[in-house]
Amino acid sequence: MNLTEMHADPDDTQRRLDEAVYAISGRMAGPPSVGLILGSGLGEFLNDLAGNTSVSYADIPNFPRSTVVGHAGNLIFNRIGTMTFAALQGRVHYYEGYSIREVVFPVRVLARLGVGKLIITNAAGGINRTFQPGDLMLIADHINLMGANPLTGQNLEALGPRFPDMSEAYSRKFRELARAVAEEKRIGLQEGVYVGLAGPSYETPAEIRMLAALGADAVGMSTVPEVIAGRHAGIAVLGVSCITNMAAGILDRKLDHAEVMETTVRVKDKFAGLVRGLLDRLAAGAEV
Ligand code: HPA
Repeated sequence: MNLTEMHADPDDTQRRLDEAVYAISGRMAGPPSVGLILGSGLGEFLNDLAGNTSVSYADIPNFPRSTVVGHAGNLIFNRIGTMTFAALQGRVHYYEGYSIREVVFPVRVLARLGVGKLIITNAAGGINRTFQPGDLMLIADHINLMGANPLTGQNLEALGPRFPDMSEAYSRKFRELARAVAEEKRIGLQEGVYVGLAGPSYETPAEIRMLAALGADAVGMSTVPEVIAGRHAGIAVLGVSCITNMAAGILDRKLDHAEVMETTVRVKDKFAGLVRGLLDRLAAGAEV
């Protein structure tokens, strides 16, 4: 590799992607068309499906591994009818100390494998006062306040354009499909703007008042980098937040990770029903 080439890919992303994809491709039945990123405690429902191929992140070269309780680390391959999918059970966060490019490495692997549609889930604090813990929120749009962007640095043209459009970060058709599935299954679905912060400390009440004034309905510490990398790769994205708690200062109580985990456990069947319904519709040929 000469100096110009090194500069073009400072993290050696292309080679690291090649290695990861090479290790995985022998283990999947066919290339996945749909990807899922299942956050804190939300990934387990897939374990009940017959025919899963599960690949531990530990067995995928260059794959970042989560240090957070509640985040498994498996890449699951399966199909519903002829619709193939790949699900990331667990993700890594920027606050764990990974670089913002490492955080999106798994999304780039999915893109390389052929994923064209991506369903991203997360846990978030509710800023909108009409929300309640346990609600699901369709992400209509996001605000990036992480202080970082995974596309910073020389652009890798093979992965996507220098200046990707973000005017429909969360696919309109995909959201229409999610609303239809929720209605059919009688699952309540809020909709709003997700603001991504670096964390890991929760926000102060003053910060939450500021975020409310900026137009945010929910706050969390993930998703935004993954959506940016997904859009860069031309993937249609759907995002769903589980409102696990009301954001700081809204109720007269402290926030803790145990409450977040408790709520995800409480709503996981509802969440799984929505995601499963989406997969079934995609398998039946729904366009997004
Ligand atoms: N703030 C930030 N991230 C979160 C929260 C919160 O209140 N709840 C779950 N993830």
